[in-house]
Amino acid sequence: MRNFRKNSFCLLLIGLSQFCLAQNIHKKNTNPANKEAFIQTLISKMTLDEKLGQLTLYTSDMSVTGPIMRDNYKQDIMSGRCGNIFNAYTPVYTRKLQDMAMQSRLKIPLLFGYDVIHGHKTIFPIPLGESCAWDTLLSEQSAKIAATEASADGLHWTYSPMVDITRDPRWGRVAEGSGEDPVLGSAIARAKVKGYQGTDLKSKESILSCVKHFALYGAPVAGRDYNTVDMSMQSMFNVYLPPYKAAIDAGAASVMSSFNEINGVPATANKWLMTDLLRKQWGFKGFVVTDYTSINEMVNHGNVANEYEAGVAALNAGIDMDMQGAVYITYLKAAVEKNEVKIADIDAAVYRILDAKWQLGLFENPYLYCDEKRAKNNIMTTEHLQAAEQTATASMVLLKNDNNLLPLKNEESIAFIGPFVKNKRDLIGNWSAAGDYTQAKSLWDAVAAKTVGKASISYALGANVTDDTLLIQKMHIQEFIDKRSAETLINEAITVASKANIIVMALGESEGMSGEAASRSAIGIPPNQMNLLKAIHALGKPIVLLLSNGRPLSLSWENEHVSAILETWFLGTQSGPAICKVLFGDENPSGKLTMSFPRSIGQVPIYYAAKNTGRPFDNNQKYTSKYLDIPNTPLYPFGFGLSYTQFNYSNLQLNQNQFKKNDTIAASVTITNTGKIDGYEIVQLYVQDLVGSSTRPLKELKKFSKVFLKAGTSKQVCFKITMDELYFYNANMERVLEPGQFKLFIGKNVNEVLETSFELIGN
Ligand code: BGC
Repeated sequence: MRNFRKNSFCLLLIGLSQFCLAQNIHKKNTNPANKEAFIQTLISKMTLDEKLGQLTLYTSDMSVTGPIMRDNYKQDIMSGRCGNIFNAYTPVYTRKLQDMAMQSRLKIPLLFGYDVIHGHKTIFPIPLGESCAWDTLLSEQSAKIAATEASADGLHWTYSPMVDITRDPRWGRVAEGSGEDPVLGSAIARAKVKGYQGTDLKSKESILSCVKHFALYGAPVAGRDYNTVDMSMQSMFNVYLPPYKAAIDAGAASVMSSFNEINGVPATANKWLMTDLLRKQWGFKGFVVTDYTSINEMVNHGNVANEYEAGVAALNAGIDMDMQGAVYITYLKAAVEKNEVKIADIDAAVYRILDAKWQLGLFENPYLYCDEKRAKNNIMTTEHLQAAEQTATASMVLLKNDNNLLPLKNEESIAFIGPFVKNKRDLIGNWSAAGDYTQAKSLWDAVAAKTVGKASISYALGANVTDDTLLIQKMHIQEFIDKRSAETLINEAITVASKANIIVMALGESEGMSGEAASRSAIGIPPNQMNLLKAIHALGKPIVLLLSNGRPLSLSWENEHVSAILETWFLGTQSGPAICKVLFGDENPSGKLTMSFPRSIGQVPIYYAAKNTGRPFDNNQKYTSKYLDIPNTPLYPFGFGLSYTQFNYSNLQLNQNQFKKNDTIAASVTITNTGKIDGYEIVQLYVQDLVGSSTRPLKELKKFSKVFLKAGTSKQVCFKITMDELYFYNANMERVLEPGQFKLFIGKNVNEVLETSFELIGN
């Protein structure tokens, strides 16, 4: 007994001293004055190999997105030659890897990154879909939930937000961004960073964000992924760069360099971009990681002769971390010896990475995020699923609704036809992280539950998502393909549809038709599904078309022939219930497009903030800027989306008609819900600067507000615009505010607006 007491006393003492030690370290590390000393001391103990190890990021073998896979990364971790891992998660696995790092000489904790793009396990709508909610609180909420789940699953760092502005729907990665507008894109970028990082990176529930792909990745020539970007400085600064800047101003901890070149210099070797602009002008203090092997790829770009030169160029440009390419670890030692890379620059890069680890609290506890209890309790909770459903509902865009066909009312029999009725696999979309499609809720299941005892429902597949065997192979979807002939499938669908009084067709792209390396030269519904749609249309019954897709599609035929069209994107885990609610009117759709939908692929790139040209469109004049065969306008413009109710805009007012450069413009408008259903309306404010020293776009979004209006009620919506929001970069790349006449528009989309004007006077 005595011995036991003695032993327990000793144990208590040891425990106490360990606790005090930990507290001491903790105190030391959380004091900002000590952070620098702590990191610098650590750096001073590191060998060059260990330093380069901290600049190295390898993928684990859990999931891989690119071509290179290293087998021996575990040895690298233990020898300090790899300080960061991506595509590894779960508390058990990350603990195992962290254990290896703890066996290294300096025991520097690993940083775990992953593409948590629209949810970790609870999957939210693809970002393009979510952007159509125009709701920064929802955007922040989905990022916060993603961070909660990812951090509970062992992760520290997400490769999101993707803020690449894009005007070309051929580019498959439009699915991952927030569309074509810099003001909306910036607002969403800020919200995402806030959601991921919270107010304290040391909180177990926050993770580092990584704004990508810096820069201009959304503007590849011809919409082909990875292609060259060739852009004027004005477009860069007025349109494409603002969302990156917004994310950085919001505190984004890291930046990912893009694959593309910019006017002849790959982003990953672009010193002007990474150092002069990002660090010196914008004051970015975090670290920059490359995209997947983008240092190695410079050899293909042809700006360097070999990987050695590529590594030197990247480090000297200001790139801190090499994703998967192993160029830094392989070549930079020699480069230091040859004095082609300065050790001070390597130290600075190492500092930034250790700083991120420090901010996360990993030096205090490398296993902070390896908590199995959290993984059990914090993932796919009821609360998270509800939030995902709320966001999914808000992301849908009603494109057409002739004779108020939607919401479905008391139909006796409804036929559901198409490859997306029972589909689960595609619903969670591209980049669905650790999402499990089998947990997604299908439309069919939701509808079946909803209609029990009310309407008879029937189903036919009608068509596979595509008949293109090469595409099927590329997308690895053989097992999801019904082997019967296209004709058999269509005939079966005709039989089913003939017995119903209304037909809901769920068509679109499979998730693999958008996302990375998924550019398309034709952006319609795949031809075999169009054949089905045309065959069903020939029955002469009302058709509701539900679209699943990751990009704007060209829908001219559909718009002409189908009564109602609802854009549902890929809405994530809660797709089925969300679509069902809108279909049957439990929810009123309120989403509005954040990318213009072209009439035809020939109009691409197409965007609302175009210039007037010297020969503006005039259908009666031959020599004006137009096509011979179609109008210039898109099929569905930016900001467009219908509701089950109607909103009337009136009484557009400004506080003054003349403003000076320190004034604030106050604009207001009255919105009335003139229909019979409550609903949200997204009110948009645009400005046109009529005469500029450089030509100005016809309209630019400056403000937006989402308001809820009960049926029959009105609300005054007010906006404040500061003069800062009217500045632009002119041809000399000066940021200027120019006196003159402006038009101001407020409306329900970029075309349906009320208009007024004001003057900006000098001084
Ligand atoms: C993509 C990035 C992604 C990275 C890591 C690349 O292929 O372009 O967006 O973050 O892989 O998975």
